[in-house]
Amino acid sequence: MTIWRVTGGRRLSGELAVQGSKNAVLPILAASILAPCETLLTGVPDLRDVRITLRILRHLGCTVEREGDQIRIDSRPLSGCEIPHSLMRELRSSVIFLGAILARCGQARLSLPGGCELGPRPVDLHLEALRALGADVTEQGGDIICKGSDLRGARVILPIPSVGATENAMLAACAARGVTVISNAAREPEIVDLQKYLRALGARLSGAGSAEIRVEGFAPAPFVRHRILPDRIAAATLLCACAAAGGDITLTNVFPSHFLTVMDSLSEAGCDIITKSGTVTLRSDGRLIAPRPIVTRPYPGFPTDAQPPLMAACLRARGTTVFTETIFSNRYRHALELRRLGADVSIEGRVAFISGVERLTAAPLTAGDLRGGAAMIVAALAAEGTTEIFDEEHIRRGYDRLEQQLAALGADISCDRASN
Ligand code: EPZ
Repeated sequence: MTIWRVTGGRRLSGELAVQGSKNAVLPILAASILAPCETLLTGVPDLRDVRITLRILRHLGCTVEREGDQIRIDSRPLSGCEIPHSLMRELRSSVIFLGAILARCGQARLSLPGGCELGPRPVDLHLEALRALGADVTEQGGDIICKGSDLRGARVILPIPSVGATENAMLAACAARGVTVISNAAREPEIVDLQKYLRALGARLSGAGSAEIRVEGFAPAPFVRHRILPDRIAAATLLCACAAAGGDITLTNVFPSHFLTVMDSLSEAGCDIITKSGTVTLRSDGRLIAPRPIVTRPYPGFPTDAQPPLMAACLRARGTTVFTETIFSNRYRHALELRRLGADVSIEGRVAFISGVERLTAAPLTAGDLRGGAAMIVAALAAEGTTEIFDEEHIRRGYDRLEQQLAALGADISCDRASN
């Protein structure tokens, strides 16, 4: 258990480089086993989810070395094609290994990832995509068992633009004979970063970032070097923190075009935002007005992962802010917890209504998931007094030294491990 202590009332100021993207590095780490090769990744954030993924790579027989923000993976000694429940249960997004192990080994066995705090996390679209490529996929005793040493290129039509299913299809298609076309593919920047890595690895791949991705072959290279994309959600979270607390911060190592929808909402709320290539500056007096209604959508729509931190920034905004969460069925746990600070929150199904209040007052909070925990930190920056956030290691899953980053910008924040 980690306890975060945040004393509100301090404006933020200064310049900060944004971490590498969690949701870009995880699929690329899985892709590093597609062929016997050495991969050097730079700009890798130090996150719990990354550490668990490195444990999975070692479990499969790869050698993995980390030095600062660089990770070197040698997948030539890979010997395993199974991931046990003990590892899968720690990181549901490890289902992305399914396509990679199947492509490399011709078979794969993973324990079915459970649901998570956001609600059920089905993988039916992942499995259908692999079946379309000719894999035999069965479920047995909580495991997913895939066989397919002769995958064939196919048209994979995704009923919804699932990020993970798109990534699994891309990885498995690298081992398929013939051309694969993925239709209704997710368009997230992290998918484009995966394509960039796969092309460097020797895959003939195009279309990432659009709704149609083509995979036409794979001639593996022995060595790949790749710099991880900056984390657009970590950047959005820091902007929301400054909007809530007030201040003037500049973020570097960012692609502003990757989170335009979040910046649009913050501008509507009264923040001044200036973007240049690779940097974003946000100025706020901390007294916001309710932005236009926010509806989460697949990219390039408003990102579901930024809904919690933006909600936290709007708790004192004059007027009523309306959120509609269309991606996950249970992504308002933080909203109910924020009431303990005095926030005026009401939930009706997928819609959350936030009526701005004059003041927020510190109260003990419990983080229930990664982005909800980050939202509590954002809200606590604008609350009077010292808020304690009790966190079962959710926040560190996706934020690299967030307390150091916010403290460097002037926040009064610390975090300590509490004995369980
Ligand atoms: C990725 O999750 C991200 N995680 C999530 O970020 C992000 O919120 C999500 O995409 C949406 O952008 C990683 O990249 C590691 P989906 P993923 O498949 O791939 C349903 C964070 O905080 N669905 O696009 O699991 C699913 O239930 C995390 O960093 C099926 O029904 O998301 C959801 O309602 C949270 N069947 C919707 O699709 C499937 O087989 C979108 O899920 C797969 C998904």
